[in-house]
Amino acid sequence: MGFFKSLFGKKTKKEEGPVSAKQIELVQSTFAMVAPIADKAAEIFYAKLFELDPSLKSMFTSDMAEQGKKLMSMLAAAVNGLNNLEALVPVVQDLGKRHVGYNVEDSHYDTVAAALLYTLETGLGDNWNEEVKEAWTTVYVVLATTMKDAAATVETVEE
Ligand code: HEM
Repeated sequence: MGFFKSLFGKKTKKEEGPVSAKQIELVQSTFAMVAPIADKAAEIFYAKLFELDPSLKSMFTSDMAEQGKKLMSMLAAAVNGLNNLEALVPVVQDLGKRHVGYNVEDSHYDTVAAALLYTLETGLGDNWNEEVKEAWTTVYVVLATTMKDAAATVETVEE
């Protein structure tokens, strides 16, 4: 809770956290534009991810089409949940903890960020711009940091 509370709970003059109301709106409206091509977006995402780091391929053992659906629906939940952080935070924390079991390491989050931004850029075409990129980067960093922080609390057995 600490991270989200400290970031989103911080009162600025407009009572906004690191993700401004405008950015939330931008992320939600642009996600809605790629939602109709979710399957295609997931395909672009994994192709880019494995191009950036082929070693990640072996971490995914389930059906990639299924995995793509899960990823997009979780992203949808997160994007729509930006207006209701109290409900979103524990969901994202649990997700982060589960990722420890998938052997995900902190550095992988940067690779996923690059693949996600590339996917959005490709999917949004003319609707992609610097402001949209910044909004998504901000939201992703908050999500990834919450996941990593939660993952760090999971006790793992050393091999
Ligand atoms: C914002 C970031 C991320 C989101 C929203 C996300 C979302 C998901 C979701 C919804 C699942 C389905 C299983 C579950 O709910 O536990 C999943 C599984 C998985 N994710 Fe992520 N993930 C993220 C980051 C990452 C990163 C950085 C990696 C590193 C490569 C990764 C690798 C995996 C793997 C290996 C699985 C299991 C696949 C399998 O069962 O075959 N994810 N992820």
